[in-house]
Amino acid sequence: MKVVEVSLGERSYPIHIGSGILGGLQERLLQEATGSKLLLLSNPTVYSIYGPVVERAIEGASLQRSLVLIPDGEQYKDYFWAYHILTRMLQDGLDRGSLLIALGGGVIGDIGGFVASVFMRGIAYVQVPTTLLAQVDSSVGGKTGVNHPLGKNMIGTFYQPRFVWIDVQTLRTLPEDQFRAGMAEVIKYGVIWDREFFQYLRSNHRQILGLQPESLEQVVQRCCQIKAEVVSRDEREAGLRAILNFGHTVGHAIETATSYRGYLHGEAVAVGMVAEAWLAHRLGLLSETEAGEIEETIRSYGLPVGIPKEIEVSRMLSYMTLDKKARAGRLRIVLPEGIGRVRVQEITEEGLLEETLRALQRV
Ligand SMILES: NC(=O)c1ccc[n+]([C@@H]2O[C@H](COP(=O)([O-])OP(=O)(O)OC[C@H]3O[C@@H](n4cnc5c(N)ncnc54)[C@H](O)[C@@H]3O)[C@@H](O)[C@H]2O)c1
Repeated sequence: MKVVEVSLGERSYPIHIGSGILGGLQERLLQEATGSKLLLLSNPTVYSIYGPVVERAIEGASLQRSLVLIPDGEQYKDYFWAYHILTRMLQDGLDRGSLLIALGGGVIGDIGGFVASVFMRGIAYVQVPTTLLAQVDSSVGGKTGVNHPLGKNMIGTFYQPRFVWIDVQTLRTLPEDQFRAGMAEVIKYGVIWDREFFQYLRSNHRQILGLQPESLEQVVQRCCQIKAEVVSRDEREAGLRAILNFGHTVGHAIETATSYRGYLHGEAVAVGMVAEAWLAHRLGLLSETEAGEIEETIRSYGLPVGIPKEIEVSRMLSYMTLDKKARAGRLRIVLPEGIGRVRVQEITEEGLLEETLRALQRV
């Protein structure tokens, strides 16, 4: 088993990564639980596959568990479901010494972390992420939250888990499109931080797409190390953490222009990274070869690299401008200066951005 440490002083915690380690959760729970009660939070899809193993681990740790399954879907990551979970916790007599386990993808992890952070002013929680996106991104870093009709993730907290338990074997049952979408975030880490890792992803894509355990462990470990390092330096997103948004400015514009339908988040980020890489090239920051390598790598993982004609570039631009207004009038985009290095750049030449997006409608 691999262990990555997230260093945040007294809020530090380990991320355990391995293949087939879900049952091993029992021992770790025995070390962590201070009270006798626990809430297991999941959704019916994940629980039907992994519930039995996790239930055995909880039973083995002699913990009394409550179970809440929320329906499967982003639309249930909301205040009403958070309230429902809190109600069940109170009804079942959970207290400040109780533990919450979030078993599932980013939706379960985000709402679980949020509930844990506000129940009796905060109880311990554990992330057991089962999607690639959750394993490399959402379960690490302590951002929790729920959506509001007026905006995604608008209600939330920064609240770190006690530990993260990642079994890469759970990725075997993940729908293929979800796995590929997670790969967009994986590639992102290579571009923003680690050229060597980027090259690893280029040369090992067959093993990775073939879900070979050692490759998956290596990929998840490196991503967690990078995210842990960024988060350790900037827990509350005052500066450096913004680099994790590479691909997300254009990605969000695509998601908004398509009303969050038609694209998985990772797919929109994939197109966003291609657009932002080519924008960096147009601005003279990135060579044509490197922008091409980024595009090619994203394509090699079966991710989209172009913007369909149905999406109006003018609409995308107005979303980015609206976003810009919300952030004191400056459009700032994370741009690669080379593979493994990025900078946050204020975009003054919006014409170049438009040109870049239009060029992507031809691919
Ligand atoms: N907190 C953060 O820092 C952070 C970062 C990025 C994204 N997020 C959030 O994460 C959420 C998206 O997460 P996601 O992509 O994991 O989506 P998700 O949680 O909706 O999971 C995707 C789908 O896969 C299913 N699933 C999960 N694990 C499975 C498995 N092992 N086998 C079979 N099916 C499985 C789920 O039931 C769901 O249908 C969004 O709400 C986003 O806002 C949070």
